[in-house]
Amino acid sequence: MRKEFFIYGVILFILSLAAHFLFKTSLLIALFIFFLLIIGFFNSRQHKHTILRNFPVLGYFRYMFEEIAPEIQQYFIERTTDGKPFSRNERSLAYRRAKNVSDTTPFGTQLDINNSSYEGLKHSIFPTKVNPELPRVMIGGEDCKQPYSASLLNISAMSFGSLSENAIVALNKGAQKGNFYHNTGEGGLTEYHLQGADVCWQIGTGYFGCRDDRGDFDGGKFAEKANFPEVKMIELKLSQGAKPGHGGVLPAAKNTEEIAKIRGVLPHIEILSPPSHSAFDSPKGLVQFIARLRELSNGKPVGFKLCIGQTEEFEAICQEMMDQNCYPDFITVDGAEGGTGAAPLEFSDGVGMPLEPALIFVNKTLIRLNIRDKMRIICSGKIISGHAILKAIALGADLCNSARGFMFSLGCIQALRCNTNKCPVGVATQDRMLEKGLVVSDKFERVYNFHKNTLHAANELLAAAGKSNYEEVDVSIFMRGDEFTHLSDLYFPNNLTNVTTHLKKKEGY
Ligand SMILES: Cc1cc2nc3c(=O)[nH]c(=O)nc-3n(C[C@H](O)[C@H](O)[C@H](O)COP(=O)(O)O)c2cc1C
Repeated sequence: MRKEFFIYGVILFILSLAAHFLFKTSLLIALFIFFLLIIGFFNSRQHKHTILRNFPVLGYFRYMFEEIAPEIQQYFIERTTDGKPFSRNERSLAYRRAKNVSDTTPFGTQLDINNSSYEGLKHSIFPTKVNPELPRVMIGGEDCKQPYSASLLNISAMSFGSLSENAIVALNKGAQKGNFYHNTGEGGLTEYHLQGADVCWQIGTGYFGCRDDRGDFDGGKFAEKANFPEVKMIELKLSQGAKPGHGGVLPAAKNTEEIAKIRGVLPHIEILSPPSHSAFDSPKGLVQFIARLRELSNGKPVGFKLCIGQTEEFEAICQEMMDQNCYPDFITVDGAEGGTGAAPLEFSDGVGMPLEPALIFVNKTLIRLNIRDKMRIICSGKIISGHAILKAIALGADLCNSARGFMFSLGCIQALRCNTNKCPVGVATQDRMLEKGLVVSDKFERVYNFHKNTLHAANELLAAAGKSNYEEVDVSIFMRGDEFTHLSDLYFPNNLTNVTTHLKKKEGY
């Protein structure tokens, strides 16, 4: 291809020059072709990009299309039920709720509800009245001195660094208006998290904001911030669903001077939080550390977040809690389907337990050990609708967090650029120009609306199930598509026989 490029290129160049002298056409055409020839010459000699060596100019189109592939997919190819991780239907539901416009859909479901992935609520013939109040849950066990009344839906951990300053401020102000909490993420508690909302301060393995010079946990620094009035809860991060066992990743492009200062690291380099904590390395140490955090925060609710992997390890932690008679106030269960700013594909696609089995496992383990009432279960993993909230509660959660749902409310278009610093809507970037597109005064209202309307939808579903409060909800109120196909032989013939007999009797046969 190189040979052809230069042969045709030189011919075109000579022809355009001739046309200029003979027919007075613009010299710019010849200059442009010459310019392409120069680029082609250098590309054909470089060793880094094979495609450009072989196709010295056309090769650029491949890079260009590759760059805009997510947009092409989303704008021209994706159907309403397609789109990963969130379908177009799911995203537009979040947008409409955030904008406070009609969230109804026309003409009926677009899902194939006769297959095994269908999940339906078993509604009641006698629905209850929809509660106009948004539900709340008390968090704080026996050792907690400052229990906290949390909303049923809150903002999941996302750091300043991963998200922009405007995004964090809009989330925080929205949470303040809607009276729900805002989890800081592991990047530390910053001034942008202190705009008035209730805060859950997350401590990760990097101990950002409470680390000493060696990067280890510093109790003094922790105590100072943990006692801020905005900090209502402390969450110790053991792992996160999108990359369990890996640790946090802040790409170099997003590690600005300001962020590096907040985190106590060098700027403009990739920041990897270690996979494990240096403050403890066993279930015993973890439980002792929880007690220490609670003491240093003067009895605020303390819990830990994890994605379930080896189930026996979780059981060992529970055993240790019982041995020490020391319990966290909450456990946050993150599903392997969870989101992230940046993670290796192997970890996102192939590590950890999805939310559904993880919730069932954690809930049942705590019940089996008779310690379920000691703590709350918070969960996260694609919870962006009332249906998802109710299902999580049915599987054992007490309350939910959402990360990407709130990102959608800020205007996230699922451009899949969080790890490049090029988020086109200014949500997951540190680029000041892009960030300017996100107007806090508009977006905080959307954060508030998304929360309010999504919880209202959950209340409506609760009422449709004939329940008056979330404590009455258990797994029996949901059905799976394959229940019909697998169980029809067992159940329906008898029922139909009964119906037929009943009808026959009634009609005097
Ligand atoms: C941009 C981004 C940044 C995140 N940062 C953190 C973090 O700092 N700490 C953490 O525990 N989880 C982090 N998460 C995971 C979320 O808190 C949440 O557990 C996960 O995305 C599942 O919720 P979702 O499905 O509602 O997004 C992040 C997620 C996203 C999308």
